[in-house]
Amino acid sequence: MDFIREIEKLKAEKNAVILAHYYQTGDIQDIADFVGDSLALSQKAASTSAGIILFAGVKFMAETAKILSPQKKVLLPDMDAGCSLADSCNADDFKRFIAQNPGRTVVTYVNTSAEIKMLSDIVCTSSNAIQIVESLPAGEKIIFAPDRNLGNFILNKTGRDIVVWNGACHVHEEFSLEAILRLQKENPGAKVLAHPECELPVRMIADFIGSTAAMLQYSTADGANRYIVATEAGIIHQMRKTNPRKVFIPAPPKDSTCGCSECNFMKLVTVEKIYNCLANELPEIKLAGDIISKARKPINRMLDISKNINP
Ligand code: 13P
Ligand code: SF4
Repeated sequence: MDFIREIEKLKAEKNAVILAHYYQTGDIQDIADFVGDSLALSQKAASTSAGIILFAGVKFMAETAKILSPQKKVLLPDMDAGCSLADSCNADDFKRFIAQNPGRTVVTYVNTSAEIKMLSDIVCTSSNAIQIVESLPAGEKIIFAPDRNLGNFILNKTGRDIVVWNGACHVHEEFSLEAILRLQKENPGAKVLAHPECELPVRMIADFIGSTAAMLQYSTADGANRYIVATEAGIIHQMRKTNPRKVFIPAPPKDSTCGCSECNFMKLVTVEKIYNCLANELPEIKLAGDIISKARKPINRMLDISKNINP
């Protein structure tokens, strides 16, 4: 079966839109109506006029789309597409953490379950984390969760009083500093781009630190022609499409048996699963009304502050 042609037909018949994260495989990015980072995808989910949103990404992203567009049907092609970072922060433990650190504003990265968002004052993504923290009054004490690397990155950039939850992403913590240094030697003039979820030694040698969208923008505007990319390798598809004359090299993980770092959760989604999901309108994201209304407040607070970032 020509899945791509069938997906196009189903999209038109059902007034459906496909939103894909930059960590999806190239074939999925190419059939999506919109490809973006976590912030841009949540902005799109909030503004689309389609009746069905098929999310080619992971569960917390599809849940965020459902929270922002509760009247729409939100589909996720594989319900096992989770996130090790979101899993590193469970709601009962986080409630205890908040109780142990009273009087602090709770800022959470969007990579969390809906339950964690319900416990948050404001959400952020890696595109706007600094802007969100700086929007809070000076002197306000903050809890940041769940990513310890992004949390420490924000703490160092803003100098704010932040207590950081000890969570991490298994993909971004796996980059090998030694392998990146070796690649730098082999590729003189190559710049290192790193996601803020990377560990400190990788962030320290990076020429640029930013979200997936920010890395793409930087490599497009920048004058170098070679980049070592320390984030999930899916983004390289867009980088090469946008900059066909430049060379993009995936940063290798510590486990040298595989050449680049892929998120096993993101890669659960396939073109065939997207076809089945659209055809059957399953699996569908379902969230109770009170979860949606409580989790929406901190996300909307972020979207109001971030109106001027991304399309
Ligand atoms: P961004 O798309 O915000 O850069 O996030 C990366 C990520 O890890 C999403 O899971
Ligand atoms: Fe989660 Fe890391 Fe995968 Fe992003 S790359 S979805 S943070 S496990």
